[in-house]
Amino acid sequence: MPLPVSPSDPYRSIVAAYDAEFDGANADTAGYASRAVGGSLLVLGCGTGRVCRGLASTRPVTGLDRSTAMIEGARQRGPEGVRWVVGDMTDFDLGPFGEIIIPNASFAFLPDRRARAACLARCLRALAGSGPLTIDLPAPDAALSADAHTPERLAWEGQVDGARVRRTREVFRSPRMGNLRLIDRYYIDGAAPIESVLALHLFTPDELEWMLEANGFYVEQAWGDHVGGLVREGCDRLLVRALPVG
Ligand SMILES: C[S@@+](CC[C@H](N)C(=O)[O-])C[C@H]1O[C@@H](n2cnc3c(N)ncnc32)[C@H](O)[C@@H]1O
Repeated sequence: MPLPVSPSDPYRSIVAAYDAEFDGANADTAGYASRAVGGSLLVLGCGTGRVCRGLASTRPVTGLDRSTAMIEGARQRGPEGVRWVVGDMTDFDLGPFGEIIIPNASFAFLPDRRARAACLARCLRALAGSGPLTIDLPAPDAALSADAHTPERLAWEGQVDGARVRRTREVFRSPRMGNLRLIDRYYIDGAAPIESVLALHLFTPDELEWMLEANGFYVEQAWGDHVGGLVREGCDRLLVRALPVG
């Protein structure tokens, strides 16, 4: 059955390059495996399925992403046992789960408070009163927050399907609003670059905790990296594990 096309999908043309760059970055998955509670797992904003693949040998896993292209990429890579769903994390109804993970900044793509609250309401319902929700976000970089603009610079270089690919990133910031606009350009063999424009919100630890509390969760634990470090000034991640308020 053909999959519905995602409206304005910044990942549509860069799936293979995204996969090549991030496939080996699995420190987060090791942490999720060590804290797993068992039962079925839902991964929201699963992209090409990196985290799902790393956890699928031990439990039933469903991966949901709004990008048709990312889910197609995930399906092609497998494993077959994972259920892949094209859908929006603000509006899903896939039955109950024992645990939900929103990895690698996917929650930061939600555009406003209404979308974030809608996502958390869906998570609360899917967890049916128990089971953890883990959200992994990039932490604001205090050293850069005064710069409204960081010009284009090299962010990654690698091979994709035998071709040399360079990714650059240009950043526009609205520090007071906590918003970022990232313009990633992929240069492949001298051709005109493919642009992928990403809009993200950066959360402070307090903002994230209040938001979870206002939407039926409490924060059980928070970390500043993927290996159990504390949230502190200068940490580069904001990782929280929240539970439904009983
Ligand atoms: C930075 S990628 C992370 C992908 C994957 N979690 C990983 O670790 O490689 C962010 C993903 O979030 C997805 N996304 C953004 N907004 C979404 C939404 N409202 N519902 C579902 N997925 C969404 C994007 O399509 C993209 O695949």
